[in-house]
Amino acid sequence: MHSPDDRAADLIAAMTLDEKIQLVTGYLGMPVDLAAPIDSGGAFGLTEEMTPPPGAVGSDGFVPGVPRLGIPDLQLAGAGMGVTSLVPREQGESVSFPSAMAQTSTWDVPLIREFGRRVGREARVQGINVMLGAACNLTIEPRSGRVFEYHGEDPILSGTITRQELLGTQDEGVVASVKHFAANFQETGRFVVNSVVSERALREGELLAFEVALTGPADETDEVGVGAVMTSYNKLNGTYASENHYLLTEVLKDEWGFRGWVMSDWGAAHSTVPSALAGLDQEFPHAHWYGSRLKTAIENGDVPESRLDDMNLRILRSLISVGLLDTSRRPAREVEASLDTARRIAEEGIVLLQNDGILPLPRGFAGVVGVIGSHADIAVPSGGGSGAVRPIGGDPVSDPQGNLPRYWLPSSPLGALRAALPEAEIRFDAGTDQAAAADLAAECDVVVVIAHQLTMEHFDVPDLHLPDGQDELIAAVAATATPTVVVLETGGVVLTPWRNDVAAVLAAWYPGHRGGEALAAILSGAVTPSGKLPATFPDSEDDLPHREVFPMPPLHGKDGPVELTLVNILTEKQGEYFDAVYDEELLLGYKWFDATGKDVAFPFGHGLSYAQFSYDGASVIPGRDGGAVVTVSLTNAGEVAGREIVQVYATMPEEAAAPRRLVGWASVVLEPGEGREAIIKVPATYLSIWSVEETRWVRPPGTVRLDIAASSRDVRLVRELGTEQRA
Ligand code: BGC
Repeated sequence: MHSPDDRAADLIAAMTLDEKIQLVTGYLGMPVDLAAPIDSGGAFGLTEEMTPPPGAVGSDGFVPGVPRLGIPDLQLAGAGMGVTSLVPREQGESVSFPSAMAQTSTWDVPLIREFGRRVGREARVQGINVMLGAACNLTIEPRSGRVFEYHGEDPILSGTITRQELLGTQDEGVVASVKHFAANFQETGRFVVNSVVSERALREGELLAFEVALTGPADETDEVGVGAVMTSYNKLNGTYASENHYLLTEVLKDEWGFRGWVMSDWGAAHSTVPSALAGLDQEFPHAHWYGSRLKTAIENGDVPESRLDDMNLRILRSLISVGLLDTSRRPAREVEASLDTARRIAEEGIVLLQNDGILPLPRGFAGVVGVIGSHADIAVPSGGGSGAVRPIGGDPVSDPQGNLPRYWLPSSPLGALRAALPEAEIRFDAGTDQAAAADLAAECDVVVVIAHQLTMEHFDVPDLHLPDGQDELIAAVAATATPTVVVLETGGVVLTPWRNDVAAVLAAWYPGHRGGEALAAILSGAVTPSGKLPATFPDSEDDLPHREVFPMPPLHGKDGPVELTLVNILTEKQGEYFDAVYDEELLLGYKWFDATGKDVAFPFGHGLSYAQFSYDGASVIPGRDGGAVVTVSLTNAGEVAGREIVQVYATMPEEAAAPRRLVGWASVVLEPGEGREAIIKVPATYLSIWSVEETRWVRPPGTVRLDIAASSRDVRLVRELGTEQRA
């Protein structure tokens, strides 16, 4: 049997120049309503000549294959919460899974692997063979409109969870592309922002997330490897990500040994020769810089043909590795199984932030429960943009926003709560009139306010307050003295100024297609909450490293102000670049709040349970390579079964000048009274710092303190790891 490398090389030897150019030039794969207004990002700002070639199933991207050589067409669709269908297509409605923030809040590696498999399988059902996601940009700008697509503020957690989704998708014979490489931290001015980040901060922050997502811990066997990487729109330290030799070639391909291909984000390429020489292997979403321009560059020698062969080798090797050249069979659809996975992710990803004992509602609860919140009778929200999944069962609310899709999902928290508490009387109020909602609350024994924040790609939120007067609504309901439970259905973290006046708070994020059911199961105690925060809920925006999102300068074209749209980018009408300077350096997320000694509303890693876990002891065995194995004895001293996420944070020797960081965790399920040992492997690289001088990871000598903790701010045991102890 030929290796993927040999098979790819044989194909390349048989391909004509035109065929090789064809494989590196991607198109939009869906029909576009040219009558639709071309607004910010809408319909990708397409014009007629960009309509897709025949054969496209109707998704984000399409690359014609080479049938005479058995190379299939590439059909690319959005990933992250399921298989997207930006325009309606056959079987394009599918299960919408909980957001990436919810997925990450599970900290559950096998569950997210299963999620990836569900996505891969559904992709094949729909004729899609390359998934555009997951995304592992860090959520260090909590107001970013895409936080719901990202995996939190810690690079090791984000990379680990992202990797499982990618590999799961590939397990099912579909290539997964990790995005957006790199430093795509905010949506405001996303086409013209220049992210300024120091080398060390990049390596120990954003790039570490990608490194973990792509390479995993050193001891993992990974025969296939993640198949593709998507660049970002922004510049990084003055150079477009899509023509950034440092990012694409020096770090990604040479240092990390990435063997897949690099595709541009849609409209993120800005040149032919510099991009090709920097390491960009495929352009989307039309033949602007590649296509005939690349052919000319090859013919006149500006780009060596060996580089074009390398682009093709990378694409073909990934396709061959996942099996795409060997089978095109479409599997049977498994909607029920996907809904079940969606429910489990929601159940494990909902985080109980605060609880004065009101939850769970007692078994057989027969009191009056008020449910307040817009659409909580029929739906749960999800995030908008290219990651939005057109939901099976339809959108019960139908509240579109511009041309970018945004859906509510058909899952009713109210209905599910009625089913879970059959003896209770459950009343509903939409919450649009504060006084009416307070009146209802006053008549209840307990009230559940389901607050939401809608977020979407291309638009940051103006601030971290709940929108539409919901803070005031919660305050008015809480003022009735009826115990109040607040459920947050938000893209990411928000401010909780009313938290001292309410009985319980839950972060449900965008909980997906079975979100209402999962929520009801947690409120009623059928499921014990176990999620933990992948990001810090700050007390105030004043406490963030940056009080506001970096503002974009107004755009002026030749004939007056112009809008910054994708069509303008595609036709080379650039806006003015502006810098986003991340001078917090290594202090990303909780590292910032810890280093500056700020109080937070709810810390990174925090999450309550109905069970009670005691941390009885721990031992550390140093590994030969400088890593360690931490064993923690845990007991469930509570009365219900539960799952604890045990976390390990490392404080490096002072000379390392590095903030305390998460280096590992274990997810442990325990019956009441049960004891068990959690084993956490900490690789040496996670105890290393990036040496700018030596351009490599260095494990500093000296003693490392290991905090064994229930959250970043709830340390239960402290152990030491001395380098002198190395076996
Ligand atoms: C987004 C990507 C997405 C692509 C294709 C871009 O605007 O930034 O995340 O995969 O469109 O839909």
